Amino acid sequence: MIKNSKFYFLNILKSWRTFWIVAGISVTFSSFYVCKNESDLTAVKDRFPGRAWAEPINVQESLPGINGLTAKDCGVCHEDHYKEWKNSTHANAFTDLQFQAELAKPNSPQWLCLNCHIPLSGQRKEIATHLKGGDVFQPVLVSNKKFNANWEKEGISCGTCHLKSDSQGRTVLIGPTGANAPHPVEKNREALHARCNDCHNQDYKLNLSLICYFKTGDEYKESIHFPKEDCVSCHMPSVNRNIVIPSFQKEKRDSHRHTFIGGGVPKTFALFDSQWKGYQSGLKIGEPKWFLSEKEGIRLSLTLENTLAGHNVPTGDPERHLIVEAILQDENGREVSKEVQKIGQNWEWYPEAKLVSDNRIRSGEKRSIDWVLNTKPGPKPKFGILRILHVRLTKENAEHMKKNSNYASPEIGKKIKNIELHYPFANVFYEAKTDLNTGKIQLTSKKNLLEISKRGGL
Ligand code: HEC
Ligand code: HEC
Ligand code: HEC
Ligand code: HEC
Ligand code: HEC
Repeated sequence: MIKNSKFYFLNILKSWRTFWIVAGISVTFSSFYVCKNESDLTAVKDRFPGRAWAEPINVQESLPGINGLTAKDCGVCHEDHYKEWKNSTHANAFTDLQFQAELAKPNSPQWLCLNCHIPLSGQRKEIATHLKGGDVFQPVLVSNKKFNANWEKEGISCGTCHLKSDSQGRTVLIGPTGANAPHPVEKNREALHARCNDCHNQDYKLNLSLICYFKTGDEYKESIHFPKEDCVSCHMPSVNRNIVIPSFQKEKRDSHRHTFIGGGVPKTFALFDSQWKGYQSGLKIGEPKWFLSEKEGIRLSLTLENTLAGHNVPTGDPERHLIVEAILQDENGREVSKEVQKIGQNWEWYPEAKLVSDNRIRSGEKRSIDWVLNTKPGPKPKFGILRILHVRLTKENAEHMKKNSNYASPEIGKKIKNIELHYPFANVFYEAKTDLNTGKIQLTSKKNLLEISKRGGL
């Protein structure tokens, strides 16, 4: 049949009129097939309408007046901004071991993760244009000739917030005042402030057990600091300084530290020192009060008040939590009794992701904790110790990561196998030791807390 019809077509090609008819038919036919194929493909922006992270930000490789658009390129003139940012968690959003471990899992929708963790087109080896049948796990990936491997490693690079693509597809650099600079600047302070929520306030279900759940922006709207302070005023504190190297002979001006310090658990042990310079817990912790009574045993009473954070403590990643530990010791420092409470979210991931409970401390909330600690008969304990940890990664999750480490590249896989050597799981941000006989309290200094946290093993 097919052969026959082919000959038939060849014959009628002799006449121009019939040629157009044939061409017309075949165009209709082929466009029918193309359309049919395209109807199976969903453009990523249609799959996630209105989401800033549906697609990477399409940017050029340079702008007039500057050589390139990587953070390192910006740092040639904006030295202070570059140094601050380099030590921030944003600069580690791609190289982060935990991110790399999760990204390497066979069921990870990599293109989507990367849209928030390395959102500029020049950072991307491949760009997802469509999804087969709208399925996030079946992207159509197009290789990107403009890929820059150094830019990829920069994670949330300067351009994440400072670059956009206008309606004509031109790359625009956004600044807060529209200052006169070698590169063009479009004044739009509001866009810079609004940018945080594109990633830090997203709630999206990809399938039953894969969800994206960061509600920091909504928590902020409910906070006691709204609207006086915002993400930027708290996480990018103001400072009066030169914003470029001295050769430009510019005056000092209003500027903002680009440190983005959060919960004080950096991505590597080496970053602890720089992060703790600006780190402060959101909680005001009342002096722990220990009561000895014949009838009750030993009681601890304590208040935790979220005065400084413009959102819950902790916020963001569902795994993050605080551990409050109360420990009784005998006169030799041996543990006699211990009570532990977790402050955070509890999720059930299977068969369907579900928030089971959430006892995080809301902005402005004052939480009282009252515990009775069990003591065995015998000599009375001598010390009461209260310790509070801020946890980023649990030991159980670290074990899962180790089991899956073979999916990652050999270099990263090796590090994941020994993750406790490379990746801080937690910090200790409060420790108070009370002599139960005299009531005297010894608070561990911030410097010593840093030393304990840096040692790891938490
Ligand atoms: C060749 C030097 C040079 C490079 C490279 C450079 N800048 Fe600038 N930039 C300047 C100068 C000079 C100013 C004006 C400083 C002033 O007014 O005090 C400026 C100002 C700015 C401002 C402030 C604008 C405003 O509205 O107040 C921002 C934001 C900025 N640059 C971002 C960047 C980013 C992002 C990069 C990298 C993509 C970059 N710059 C690369 C020299 C440079
Ligand atoms: C394109 C997405 C994106 C945007 C926009 C963004 N962030 Fe982030 N932010 C991230 C990611 C991803 C991380 C975590 C990286 C990691 O843990 O590896 C993060 C981490 C943080 C942290 C936590 C630091 C820590 O040590 O835990 C703070 C604070 C923060 N961002 C503040 C901000 C502020 C303020 C803005 C707006 C000016 C902002 N972010 C804009 C993606 C973004
Ligand atoms: C997560 C978002 C984000 C990233 C990443 C970021 N910035 Fe900014 N930047 C801002 C915001 C927000 C402001 C404006 C704050 C204001 O004026 O209220 C700002 C302001 C500036 C300014 C104006 C002066 C000042 O300090 O206020 C310069 C210059 C600047 N950024 C350069 C950089 C450079 C260089 C990098 C990378 C090394 C970078 N920024 C990375 C959000 C970001
Ligand atoms: C009033 C000041 C304030 C405002 C406003 C604020 N934050 Fe924070 N943020 C803090 C403090 C303080 C911490 C440290 C909390 C702690 O660990 O005790 C923190 C921690 C964080 C963390 C680390 C999460 C954790 O628990 O480790 C992220 C991420 C973050 N903030 C993002 C944001 C974003 C995004 C906004 C805006 C929607 C914002 N913050 C608004 C003060 C603020
Ligand atoms: C909507 C933007 C967005 C998408 C999409 C996204 N992330 Fe993130 N991711 C964030 C932000 C924001 C943070 C920081 C949250 C915080 O610190 O509160 C983060 C933090 C992380 C962290 C660090 C957690 C920690 O406690 O240190 C890992 C790991 C991570 N993301 C993995 C992934 C993976 C894997 C995917 C894809 C399945 C993904 N992310 C997709 C925005 C995103």
